[in-house]
Amino acid sequence: MTQPPLRLGILGSGKGSNFRAIADAISAGTLNAEVALVLSDVQHAGILALAHERGYPAQFVPPGKYRSKLEPVVEAWVVDLLRGAGVELVVLAGYMRMIKAPLLEAFPNRIINIHPSLLPQFPGLDAWRQAIDSGVTESGCTVHYVDGGMDTGPIIAQRRVPVLPGDTPETLHARIQEQEHQLYPEIIQQFAEKLRVN
Ligand code: GRF
Repeated sequence: MTQPPLRLGILGSGKGSNFRAIADAISAGTLNAEVALVLSDVQHAGILALAHERGYPAQFVPPGKYRSKLEPVVEAWVVDLLRGAGVELVVLAGYMRMIKAPLLEAFPNRIINIHPSLLPQFPGLDAWRQAIDSGVTESGCTVHYVDGGMDTGPIIAQRRVPVLPGDTPETLHARIQEQEHQLYPEIIQQFAEKLRVN
């Protein structure tokens, strides 16, 4: 029997190429999920434009006065929005704020993130630049559970890429993103299978 699609809540602050890869995998039939809601803390983010273009429910959430997190009352509202949309898995796709108690407690073990390095190496901003500056010959991307720290939650899966002589932050990031776009839909599909069995 075909399982009902896993309902995803996507949070992003940027251009949304990972969201695009997820949406494409759903359209292609390789990911048994549906986009229940897309939220962004950035009013003119590409991810919101893309969601609107494709007809997914999407909205801007004004973040409030802090730079690194949502104001608690806003985060509580985000929880209401996600619950109201029947979200089963929260997927961070280029979301640039920390997740705090209201959201963490509402979706225990149901919030995942993708980060452009082989964690625990290079958490935080511009991980591809950190990789080049440190002289490593290999980098990659990591999908992990989200906890209260900065890119610190338990690792689910990683993909490796070489750092090549002459790489710039842009060329390395592009190589990492190719892997992200394959890995994230695959891991979400594993959740779709796992969460339906339990
Ligand atoms: C990705 O590199 C992801 O690893 C990081 O932010 C970037 C988002 O890119 N968390 P996009 O908005 O999905 O294109």
